[in-house]
Amino acid sequence: MNAITTLLESFYEDTTPKRGLPADAYKDVEFWRAECASVFTRNWICVGFAHELQAAGDAVPVTVAEHPLLLVRNMTGQIKAFHNVCRHRCLTLVDAPKNVGKLIRCPYHAWAYDLDGQLRAAPHFGGVNEHEADGFDKSKNGLVPVRTHVWNDWIFVNLDGTATEFDTYSATMQARLDGIDWDNVNCIGTLDFGEVACNWKFIMENFIEPYHVQFVHASTTDQPLEDHYTIVDGNCLGSAVDLGEEIGTAGSLGVSSRYLTLYPNFILGRYFPDQMGVYLNIPTGPGTMMQKRALYTTEGQTLTPEAIEGLKKLWWDVHREDHEMTERLQLGRASTVSEAGGVLSPAWEDSVRAFQELVAQDVTTVEQSNRGE
Ligand code: FES
Ligand SMILES: [Fe+2]
Repeated sequence: MNAITTLLESFYEDTTPKRGLPADAYKDVEFWRAECASVFTRNWICVGFAHELQAAGDAVPVTVAEHPLLLVRNMTGQIKAFHNVCRHRCLTLVDAPKNVGKLIRCPYHAWAYDLDGQLRAAPHFGGVNEHEADGFDKSKNGLVPVRTHVWNDWIFVNLDGTATEFDTYSATMQARLDGIDWDNVNCIGTLDFGEVACNWKFIMENFIEPYHVQFVHASTTDQPLEDHYTIVDGNCLGSAVDLGEEIGTAGSLGVSSRYLTLYPNFILGRYFPDQMGVYLNIPTGPGTMMQKRALYTTEGQTLTPEAIEGLKKLWWDVHREDHEMTERLQLGRASTVSEAGGVLSPAWEDSVRAFQELVAQDVTTVEQSNRGE
């Protein structure tokens, strides 16, 4: 039996209540590699915010599943994604967000690509002032494109090109966002949490279970457990709270809200009546990830700078409370006690289990395809 299948045996045991994924799913390099080859390759992965690429030539590098990618806004205003790798000797082209002008120029030997990825210059490749060479076809040495879809402010890629069309893929989530006038959605700020020292799945699971809210966020939110419920709807998993009226006091959150995730890494939080937050979650290794959050208003309203600062502080505090927990979840995986995973609440963590089953299915496909099934 293959290693991943063996690893998942305890997860699939018929226990009541259900177990979580085993510890190795959160720390083992082989499991991470299997996720890179499946979860992050065959699905639509959120990799960036369109508002971070305002002008033609704006370029943002991002590494997904160990693939260095480059997001670029081209001359006609479209956002494109390419493998961030020069076709000459294959070094990474752009290593920090910047405006590249009209050409993406490799720093090593000055090959230059236009914003649609075409190779425009390979100076002196055939000798002094010889820019062509026998058998060398510039048109076949452009940047390698990656399938991309921009949905509102969010840039998605599908590395292997096999995922269903984005609108089909995200249909269950989109159906739950009825009533939003997307033309009135404005980004009012971002928070950059930098690196969080935990496996990416702990962050996703944290958003799709409401169980921890009353304990972890006792000082920042005012949302009683009994008003919460979980959402399990195909690849849209989440948690929500419906309150009859706003009960938050100044500086705390006490509104009806929904956290919807689109498997595997996209999270959208909707806070009634008129706010939204979207999370960019970039896994960087078995035990690390990067997180950013963009804040939006949904009714086209403008907020004072003080109000925006207040919201940013609230969300910074809320998510730092979450990160402290997810980093401790990671530390707990060093113990033999966590080998077979914990136990999941049948009432509050069925959504977590559903998320984990999607991961387990995806990683298992790697071994099946290795076996030629
Ligand atoms: S590696 Fe890019 S030009 Fe040589
Ligand atoms: Fe939380």
